[in-house]
This record gives sequence, structure tokens and C-alpha cells, in this order.
Amino acid sequence: MTDSRITQVRLGDDGPEVGVQGLGCMGMSFAYGPADAEESRATLERALELGVTLYDTADMYGAGENERFLSPFFKAHRDEVVIATKFAISTSPDDPFKRVVRNDPPYIRQCVEASLKRLDVDVIDLYYMHRRDVNVPIEESVGTMAELVREGKVKHLGLSEVTADELRAAQAVHPIAAVQSEWSLFSRDIEAHVVPAAKELGVALVPYSPLGRGFLTGSFSNAETDLTDQDFRRTMPRFTGENAAANVALLEPIRSVAKAHGASPAQIALAWVQQQATVRGLAVVPIPGTTKRHRIEENVEAARIVLTEEELSLLEPIAAKVAGDRYPDMSFTSVGRE
Ligand SMILES: NC(=O)c1ccc[n+]([C@@H]2O[C@H](COP(=O)([O-])OP(=O)(O)OC[C@H]3O[C@@H](n4cnc5c(N)ncnc54)[C@H](OP(=O)(O)O)[C@@H]3O)[C@@H](O)[C@H]2O)c1
Repeated sequence: MTDSRITQVRLGDDGPEVGVQGLGCMGMSFAYGPADAEESRATLERALELGVTLYDTADMYGAGENERFLSPFFKAHRDEVVIATKFAISTSPDDPFKRVVRNDPPYIRQCVEASLKRLDVDVIDLYYMHRRDVNVPIEESVGTMAELVREGKVKHLGLSEVTADELRAAQAVHPIAAVQSEWSLFSRDIEAHVVPAAKELGVALVPYSPLGRGFLTGSFSNAETDLTDQDFRRTMPRFTGENAAANVALLEPIRSVAKAHGASPAQIALAWVQQQATVRGLAVVPIPGTTKRHRIEENVEAARIVLTEEELSLLEPIAAKVAGDRYPDMSFTSVGRE
């Protein structure tokens, strides 16, 4: 009998072992409109059965709501799951899309206590700095995060949307297990500096939004007309107006590769990200987000697809042609500070 569970990989030289695909849990409580809670819970359980062990959340997803929602699942499977959460972005209850970024030590300490309480666990397995506050030296912030490791509140450290230089400075203070940044067929800016630095330092890459926030699956073609008012994607330049119309045309090669494999476009988009591990020579654990059981099965299956050199060449030109930035304000991303 073949093992239906996905293979395991280590995050960083001393980080946790996790299934080679993780699960992004944000959409269960935040960003993409309302989700069915019961189906989300069933999705978490099914993911675990399939060997998915890295579960990704953040304190700002629904202003704590996502951590609270995941807590019973984590408690029921504490020894089987790797819990990843993040600090640094606070949102106002009046406008969840308005952000304030903070990396100062008192704020970090306040955040970790609040996350531990909401998750209702003794320790967080992987604690990320979600965004850089350039007013605080990264050595100071990572120094505080390292203290949390020594105090037993956190096991491993990660950084999201950092530049290569910021990663090097952080790694000099404490080992970093993973960098979590956007990486997909539509978003490849980290390949210039961040990916080579991560490889050099033995840090894993955890690509977020590997399905291009769903756009690469063909499930919507214009955020303004196809998605609800509460959907964050309506604020993203590449998913609206003329940009969206131009970007839909870029999906064609993904569809043709999908057809050749008898796979879905979502699976080809994910297989491409998974395959960057061998293409670039570092640990890569994407965290596609879904709130649906049938999709976790579909997505996990993509970790077994191997694309040919010819198929990789066909997909290669897509990212350079994408119209519109991935965020309305790119200064909060690594490429915005490079
Ligand atoms: N560090 C950061 O700054 C940052 C930023 C954004 C996200 N993240 C993390 O990364 C995770 C994933 O990113 P993401 O959710 O933004 O984007 P994503 O994984 O690229 O796409 C998620 C979207 O695709 C849909 N989807 C998933 N599988 C599908 C399939 N097989 N076929 C069709 N549609 C499918 C989902 O809808 P359904 O739920 O309906 O399946 C959802 O709308 C998040 O959950 C979060 O944990 C981190």
C-alpha cells in the first residue's frame, strides 16, 4: 500500500519538520469574505490526514478571530501540528484593511502573550514578524524574539516580507527557520535577492498566496465584479479594471499544462511553486489557503506533480507580463525596500 501522506521537510537547519505543503488558514476568518465554519473545521482535519502539518495564522487575521477559531483544532492535535502565527500588524476595528506596523520590543511582548492566550497553548512553534517597521532596527526586534525562544514561549523564528539584507542581519542574531513571502507564477520578485540569501543561509521559503490569491485557479477574473464588498482582493491593483482583463489572458499556458497532466490550473500553479525547491535548491513549503475539503485534497495532490523542462519554459514568461502591483502600497513588501 502506498503512503497517501505527503513527504516531510525541515524548515531551516534547526527548524521543525513539516509536510511539504502547509495550509493557510487566513481565509477561514478574514480577507476573502465569509467562510463556512463547519467546512473549514472539516478542511483542517482532512489536511492533517493527508500529512499537512504546518498551519498558518496571524494575530491580525480577523483581529484575533482566526487564532481563536483554530485553537480547538490545535489543542485536539497538539503533538501533530506545527502552529505558525505572526505579529507586527494591527488593524482598526472600524477599517480592517487600515494597518499600523510595529516591531518594538514592548509591542512584541504584548502580542506574543495575546496570541498564546487566544490559541490557548503553552508555546508557539513558529513565530513570524509579519512586516518590517523600519523605525526599529531588525537586530532589536529579532533580539526580543530570541528572548521569547529562551523563555520557552516560542520554539522557532520566522520573518515575512523581509529583504535579503534584513534576513542576513536577523540571522546574525538568532537562527531563522523560514521566510514567508509571496511567491507564485504571478509574483516572483523575491527570486532576485531573497531566495538566494535564504539558500545561502539555510533558511526555508514558505510561499504565501501561491495560487495568486485564487486568480491563478480561474475562480474569479475581476475582483470588482466577481467578489463581495468585504473581499480584500478588491483593493489589489492587479485584480481590477484593465489590469485584471490583461492578466486573465496570461492564464492560458497554465491551462494548457493542466490539460496535459489531467490536472486543474490550481494544481499546476502549486506544482510550479513546489518545484522551486529543486529548481533553486532550498526547502520550499507553500501554504495555499482553502476553506474547502475537496480543495485541500486537490491542492495536496499537486505536491506530487513534476513539470517537465518544456512546461517550466512555457510558464516562465508569465510573471514578467503581469499588470499591476500585488499590493496598493508596496513599501510594506521586501521588493519595496530593496
Ligand atoms: N505573510 C503574509 O503577509 C501573508 C499574506 C497573505 C496570505 N498569507 C498566508 O498565506 C495563506 C495563503 O494565501 P492566500 O489565501 O492569500 O492565497 P492563495 O493560497 O494563493 O489563494 C487562496 C484562494 O484560492 C482559493 N482556492 C484554494 N484552492 C483552490 C483550488 N484548488 N481551486 C480553486 N480555488 C482555490 C481559496 O478559496 P476557497 O477557500 O474557497 O478554497 C482562496 O480564495 C493565507 O491563508 C495566509 O495564511 C500570508
